[in-house]
Amino acid sequence: MLHSAAKFPTRVAIKRIIPISSGKGGVGKTTFAINFSLALSRHGRTILVDLDTGTSAIRNAIDVPIEKDLYHFFRKGEPLNSCVTHLDAKLDPKGVFRNFGFVAGPLHLIDEITNFGAANKDRLIEAINGLDADYVILDMRAGLDANVIDFLPFSNSGVLIFTPHLPSATLAASDIVKAILFRKLRLIFSRESPFFSTVNGKLDFWKLINDLIDQVEDVYDSAIGNLDAFADDLAGNLGDHPITRTVQQTLDEFRVHYVLNLFNGVEDSFQTAVKPFIENLTSNVSARCGVTNLGWITRSEAIHRANCNKIPAMLLPPEGKKAPKSSRVDQELEDLRSMAIGMEPVRKKAARQQKSSSTVDPADHLANQLNVLRSMFDQKKDDDFHANFDYASQRALFTMKTRRPSEFGDIRVYRPAEMLATIFAKSNVPTSIDWGELDL
Ligand SMILES: Nc1ncnc2c1ncn2[C@@H]1O[C@H](COP(=O)(O)OP(=O)(O)O)[C@@H](O)[C@H]1O
Ligand SMILES: [Mg+2]
Repeated sequence: MLHSAAKFPTRVAIKRIIPISSGKGGVGKTTFAINFSLALSRHGRTILVDLDTGTSAIRNAIDVPIEKDLYHFFRKGEPLNSCVTHLDAKLDPKGVFRNFGFVAGPLHLIDEITNFGAANKDRLIEAINGLDADYVILDMRAGLDANVIDFLPFSNSGVLIFTPHLPSATLAASDIVKAILFRKLRLIFSRESPFFSTVNGKLDFWKLINDLIDQVEDVYDSAIGNLDAFADDLAGNLGDHPITRTVQQTLDEFRVHYVLNLFNGVEDSFQTAVKPFIENLTSNVSARCGVTNLGWITRSEAIHRANCNKIPAMLLPPEGKKAPKSSRVDQELEDLRSMAIGMEPVRKKAARQQKSSSTVDPADHLANQLNVLRSMFDQKKDDDFHANFDYASQRALFTMKTRRPSEFGDIRVYRPAEMLATIFAKSNVPTSIDWGELDL
């Protein structure tokens, strides 16, 4: 019997976009992006887009014929949706991953595609927003230039990858958070922003805020150490003012999500990756934002061999006795529900009560991360890499289900004007601001 759509509406899932970045090359972004996308594709249509367009990394890691790629999108005017490649019967004989597809970077280095100018970038962003999928994963290139930053969300980090025993990678990961947060603050306090639209003749105000932001961002200028000190400074000088509230709110609402690659046990990973990351983040950027560990990927020869053989690790048969059980998904969801998964920073309540970041204790972040790692490890220490990727995808799905898109898995790659409109559409910044007497 056929049911009418009106009677039995099918739930239309909104698309969620998750960039995978690290700030540094060689830490496993592409490996994670491919296998995470494969794991996610068992839950919905997933498209992985290669935005590290100079390296052809994804096409080199998946041995399947590619008919159309970003070259066809940029040079031949093909819609991005028709540049998606699916696995063939050789790689996926049972069709388990039929919901997975990827957009490959160009075969050779093509400058305008590798370093897209503003127009190309806009076109690509629009096309990514129009991809026909439930989940879109972006494999980012290393570095912090505009071709990376412009594809990152404004209010969360996407998935950051870093790894034990590589201090530069943990520093780079916290630098990404810093870059995203400053981009958002600069946007909110830009000349185009509705924030200043009511302040005729008070452009000094604009200059003052932007000079302060410059000062905080400059690591060589130690006058204002990080964004929390900046928020405190504003609170001290302006009191409960729209500017103060906006900065505090931007920091409090920001969410960081990370995955540890090349995981080598709780204590070592904590000491050489998580701790330095949280310390960098809290001392150089902010201790106010939430930090969530989405899991880890063990160091595995099989993963590396799979990459070299151009067969993504998730497509390999499970490793004998450690094979995931069929009840795994249910079990994992149960674990997720019962486990404190560290999304809400402990210090949040105190910070809100006193409207000051001086109550924010970075040690809470560290204790929280260690607890989460320990409880995950208690349950997951025997997991193989298949289970690691499954677990990270379960945690990501759980986060998307329980959190707003702005916190993880945005529904669009926002361009600045669009982001401003979104922020001010829902913000409590009054249309006419009483700026009071300024004495900074
Ligand atoms: N969990 C892992 N175990 C073993 N080798 C890994 C793992 N993750 C990545 N690698 C290897 O590390 C190298 C860099 O990985 P890649 O995914 O290309 O990093 P990125 O995209 O960040 O540059 C590759 O040779 C890859 O095979
Ligand atoms: Mg890569």
